[in-house]
Amino acid sequence: MSDLFERWSSTYDDAALQRFTYRTLHDAVVTIASSQRPGTILDVGCGTGQLTRRLTRLDWAPTVYGLDVSTGMLDRARHCGAPLIRASAEALPIADHSIELITCTESFHWYTDQRAAAAEFARVLRPGGQVAIISIATFTDVGASLLRRATAGRSTIRALPPHQIRAVLAAAGLMVHEQRRVRRPTPPWPTLTRAGRNG
Ligand SMILES: C[S@@+](CC[C@H](N)C(=O)[O-])C[C@H]1O[C@@H](n2cnc3c(N)ncnc32)[C@H](O)[C@@H]1O
Repeated sequence: MSDLFERWSSTYDDAALQRFTYRTLHDAVVTIASSQRPGTILDVGCGTGQLTRRLTRLDWAPTVYGLDVSTGMLDRARHCGAPLIRASAEALPIADHSIELITCTESFHWYTDQRAAAAEFARVLRPGGQVAIISIATFTDVGASLLRRATAGRSTIRALPPHQIRAVLAAAGLMVHEQRRVRRPTPPWPTLTRAGRNG
């Protein structure tokens, strides 16, 4: 799987790919951040830092960190103006209760252990902090089965149905506040899940 992202990093910033696939998702996260105005933001699975860079430019100047497992992606994220951390979402090298907003776009469905990642999100969030995850979700068992077949042997994508994403976050002690599809120009439409850590 890591090979996939090392290879993908060289073409990931293609203007059309960014415009039609990722831009709308990043817009949704920027809207959430702007309504909350968190002082610290951790962009998990930041890729080439396209969203990370936008977060560093928000008018209240939050402290933003980008984190990713892929060296190739992080090399290309150097432009983003945020400190970059090479680590896995399942083992965040981040202090307990230190982050006000975690953003995670198009990354959660790649994690081998989504429960461990959710537990890490809950651990590093401050009381009252939130996580905004946008990930591919399957809406029916047929959809899940088709996705498994379509990607067999080529990918380790783990697209959970929305109720399972909620369950994974709830098991980590996070309360889900919102879950909805994000309509972008290209299918599949991913699911936004916003959850919080109680104060
Ligand atoms: C499709 S890219 C999304 C990048 C960025 N968030 C965006 O919206 O453009 C998925 C990213 O997740 C990263 N990733 C995959 N598994 C990861 C893990 N376990 N921990 C941290 N990052 C991971 C990949 O290296 C890749 O950069």
